[in-house]
Amino acid sequence: MKNVRILLTGAKGQLGQSITNRWKNNLQIELLATDIEELDICDPIALQQEFSKFKPDFCLNGAAYTAVDKAEIEQEKAMAINAQAVKNLCIACKEHNTTLLHISSDYVYDSWPVKLLTESAPTRPKSIYGQSKLLGDQLIINQLVKYYIFRTSWLYSEYGNNFVKTILRLSQSRPEIQVVDDQFGSPTYAGDLAEALKYLVLAQKAHHVPPFGVYNFSNDGFTNWFDFACNILEFAGKSGFPLKRISTKSFGSPAPRPYNSKMSKKKFLQHFNFPLKDWKVSLRECIDSLT
Ligand SMILES: NC(=O)c1ccc[n+]([C@@H]2O[C@H](COP(=O)([O-])OP(=O)(O)OC[C@H]3O[C@@H](n4cnc5c(N)ncnc54)[C@H](OP(=O)(O)O)[C@@H]3O)[C@@H](O)[C@H]2O)c1
Repeated sequence: MKNVRILLTGAKGQLGQSITNRWKNNLQIELLATDIEELDICDPIALQQEFSKFKPDFCLNGAAYTAVDKAEIEQEKAMAINAQAVKNLCIACKEHNTTLLHISSDYVYDSWPVKLLTESAPTRPKSIYGQSKLLGDQLIINQLVKYYIFRTSWLYSEYGNNFVKTILRLSQSRPEIQVVDDQFGSPTYAGDLAEALKYLVLAQKAHHVPPFGVYNFSNDGFTNWFDFACNILEFAGKSGFPLKRISTKSFGSPAPRPYNSKMSKKKFLQHFNFPLKDWKVSLRECIDSLT
């Protein structure tokens, strides 16, 4: 039986690196890992050429504009990468009968009133980043049949910039760290997301194909950023480090953040024969490999 051919974009990002590292020894997967230098998703001609040459079964879009605060002033760039470029991907996927695997965000949802967010919960992003991600999702939903959108939250890994690495770095240079305690959600270890995506692409070979559509994905369990930071320091052997609770309002980020990012993973669990790990178990795994 032929291998599954996957064209990965944004391969140098934190999810992209988690995928390339975790998939590299799988003999059933033929992975073409690209980042902007090899394949700019904003360039429709380059995309068409790559699709014609490689003929991917899946295009896994790990490319994105992820600078949430900067997006408030770089609106055009955020929209170009997270929305217009997604349209280019849809056109290429349609033409080449390729399934699009896209990563989206908890930021697309309306986080008020506070309740568990299912995939059909109302959307009302507060930030430019969230708006650009929602537009990307809508373009896919309106143009494609063969797609999976994974909405994930609080992504971290051994690679790139993320909350876990920031807390560890600041604990070496600052006497105290202030962390907000009034935003709730679930951390997602990019290694676990990479494994779930591997399960999905290989499920095609096992004829276990989950229905196309939108899925929430994160680790199991809920927390807030302050408790997340406490656990990071505890697992890194720095339990005594002074952490101070602060409200979102006092912290004052340039881009508004959702207070409620508690996503239901019921749909994922129903259709994927893949267990969700508790967020603390995965956090420990990541910190063990970082320290
Ligand atoms: N990080 C989070 O907390 C979080 C939370 C929820 C959802 N997500 C979503 O999860 C996905 C993966 O996030 P991540 O944290 O792995 O992102 P990331 O680390 O920022 O990686 C994105 C990658 O895409 C590349 N890229 C940017 N523009 C491109 C273009 N035009 N063509 C090709 N590549 C391009 C980036 O290159 P440069 O670095 O050179 O720009 C980077 O290597 C994204 O869709 C993101 O929206 C992330």
